[in-house]
Amino acid sequence: MKAYQILPGANIDALRCIDYPDRQLGHGEVRIRVHAVSLNYRDLMVASGNYLVNVDDPIIPCSDGAGDVLETGPGVTRVQVGDRVAASFFPYWQDGRTSPEKIRHALGGDIDGMLAEEVVLHEDALARIPASLSFIEAATLPCAGVTAWNALFVSSNGTKPGDTVLLLGTGGVSVLGLQLARAAGLRTIITSSSEDKLRRARDLGAHHTINYQATPEWHEDVLALTQGRGADVVLEVGGKGTVNRSVAAAAMGGTVAIIGGVSGFGGEVNPASLLSSAKRMVGIFVGSRAMLEALMRFADVSGLKPVIDRVFPFAQAQQAYRYMESGSHFGKVVIDVTSQDN
Ligand SMILES: NC(=O)c1ccc[n+]([C@@H]2O[C@H](COP(=O)([O-])OP(=O)(O)OC[C@H]3O[C@@H](n4cnc5c(N)ncnc54)[C@H](OP(=O)(O)O)[C@@H]3O)[C@@H](O)[C@H]2O)c1
Repeated sequence: MKAYQILPGANIDALRCIDYPDRQLGHGEVRIRVHAVSLNYRDLMVASGNYLVNVDDPIIPCSDGAGDVLETGPGVTRVQVGDRVAASFFPYWQDGRTSPEKIRHALGGDIDGMLAEEVVLHEDALARIPASLSFIEAATLPCAGVTAWNALFVSSNGTKPGDTVLLLGTGGVSVLGLQLARAAGLRTIITSSSEDKLRRARDLGAHHTINYQATPEWHEDVLALTQGRGADVVLEVGGKGTVNRSVAAAAMGGTVAIIGGVSGFGGEVNPASLLSSAKRMVGIFVGSRAMLEALMRFADVSGLKPVIDRVFPFAQAQQAYRYMESGSHFGKVVIDVTSQDN
């Protein structure tokens, strides 16, 4: 079978499609025919060597994939041949609070990921895909979707319908966050550098949109739009260039979910900016299989259809990475592993 490999840090040009040897299934393992893989900013970080881990050998990249079960190994009870499944970002974090043990490995980070025609995973790493989601849609959920779910509904301070959420930019996490928030009855404010993307966000139901380039003091607009109150939850993906404005834009007792650093990490947050307003900052590191399962259920019940910006055939994985790198996407970029096109 064919699989892509990359040496972390060797850059996108080093992404190669190779013939990958099949291996026998061990106890509890499952062979999955991958149908679709979605890209995350993190996959660009792995390629450029800016991701957290040091790896000396090439790996199969990408955390987010969906497919069907081809074969089950001895002792497998959770899934059957033919089941439609997605893999959880952290294969050892099934439920509960995180721990070093649970996040010791991450797909496509320090161990092989999903950008292959077939993968072998432990059954505990798998979540069933509801019939309402296609493989392409389901492949968008394990990283970006679970991260947004965790920030909005698990690690925040009890988000309720009618609360306000602030989303930064229109990448994968933020657009899924917008869709989840709308489906859950939250008021949504989203920023972007592009008027066209803001129009698309309004088409998706965003209540308010702000161009963060035209309005560099965008946190003041958030306060004005909320009658001075601020956002109950902020999905902070910007990093050093945005974090202080995100704190300023949060409501008293609100949560700033620290997710990413598209403008780089670093900078300082004055503890006093949290103190008397009882604001919380909480680190988000994707989430557990249980969160992925809860998200799948929610998607099924609410009819959520993740926004897919563009789908590339398997042979064009490098082009898909380059497109993601260009930042022109709105929502998710997906690779159709079953497509034979060049
Ligand atoms: N902690 C976790 O568990 C976790 C999980 C997933 C992702 N992340 C992190 O979250 C970040 C976003 O990931 P992603 O996959 O959603 O990325 P993505 O799809 O590549 O989206 C990046 C978006 O960020 C926006 N952006 C860039 N500079 C900005 C700024 N100064 N202010 C506001 N928005 C800005 C741009 O939106 P416009 O084009 O609309 O301007 C761009 O489209 C990354 O840093 C990633 O590593 C963390």
